[in-house]
Amino acid sequence: MKSMLTCLGLMVLGIATALFIGFHDRFTSEVTYYDDEQEGLKDQIVFKFSHVVAENTPKGRAANKFADLVYKKSGGSIKIEVFPNGSLYSDNEEMNALQNGDVQFIAPSTSKLGTLSPEWGVLDLPYAFTSYDAVQKGLNGKIGARLFASLERQHFKGLAYWTNGFKQLTSNKGPILSPDDLKGQALRIMPSSVIEDQYRLLGAYPRQDSFNSTFQLLESRLVDGEENTISNIYSKKFYNVQDYLTISNHGYLGYAVMTDERFWNSQTEKTRSILTEAMKETTEWNESSAEQMNKEQLEEIKKNSAISIHVLTKAEKLKWMKRLDPIYGQYEPVIGRGLIQELLSLRRQP
Ligand code: LMR
Repeated sequence: MKSMLTCLGLMVLGIATALFIGFHDRFTSEVTYYDDEQEGLKDQIVFKFSHVVAENTPKGRAANKFADLVYKKSGGSIKIEVFPNGSLYSDNEEMNALQNGDVQFIAPSTSKLGTLSPEWGVLDLPYAFTSYDAVQKGLNGKIGARLFASLERQHFKGLAYWTNGFKQLTSNKGPILSPDDLKGQALRIMPSSVIEDQYRLLGAYPRQDSFNSTFQLLESRLVDGEENTISNIYSKKFYNVQDYLTISNHGYLGYAVMTDERFWNSQTEKTRSILTEAMKETTEWNESSAEQMNKEQLEEIKKNSAISIHVLTKAEKLKWMKRLDPIYGQYEPVIGRGLIQELLSLRRQP
């Protein structure tokens, strides 16, 4: 009788243990790294992709597309969890998180990379690019290659450049037609000394702060205005707390999709090639859709808000360019003559 009871007890314990293990495997989000040698294990690799913008933006949609493509191409064995809106890490935190292995992919705006290497400032120069075509030529050419090489010093690996578009100005203080209209205005900007110095040159008060604090800064009138692409102004509803929008196209805003080099090198050939292929397709899609997305969202802003919109005329734009031109000379020793000359030669191309 005693041995029967012992036997029954052991069986119950065995079933409970098996149930617990099954339950644990199913509901924990532990990352299991894929290993080609271990076929038969029901492993799914889970990687994290963190970014700070809304999903309905060029970057948000590209991150989701990348995740979908990776899932399909790997037959479901690689899953990318995308965390938008700074829900996992803010723009101030994401680079550290990448280095610590807490996240595997990020796509900061290139303006935020000047903290790693001052060369990135080249993309923040006023009117650096005057068309989406010029952006592609620059980033897929010498400028892009040089900037990605600079990431290696910190063991980052640049996987692709994603584009958003051109920055516009918003304010509560009054219409912004000429550079002098910004005098005395407090503006939220990204952490970039090139951008900061542009606004100082115009007598404004730039304030570097994170993207996800921008709405609050505008709403509480801690700043008068900000600069951003239409997709960010639209998706974060800045237009609801700003009275004036100027289509100035005065600067470029795009992204460097990055991973940690050590993480990348630790992956199998197979995983790397799935990720590379998916990234290539996503980037092509992003390049062909970002401009249109910004255009459509400008129409939505017009439909849904009373914000007053001014589009700079050609003559007005020339005035802005001329006024901001000294920044090029000021930053030549910082960014490097070679990169600035490369940019200017692109600008001269028809
Ligand atoms: C910003 O901080 O304004 C932008 O960099 C946000 C983004 O990632 O587009």
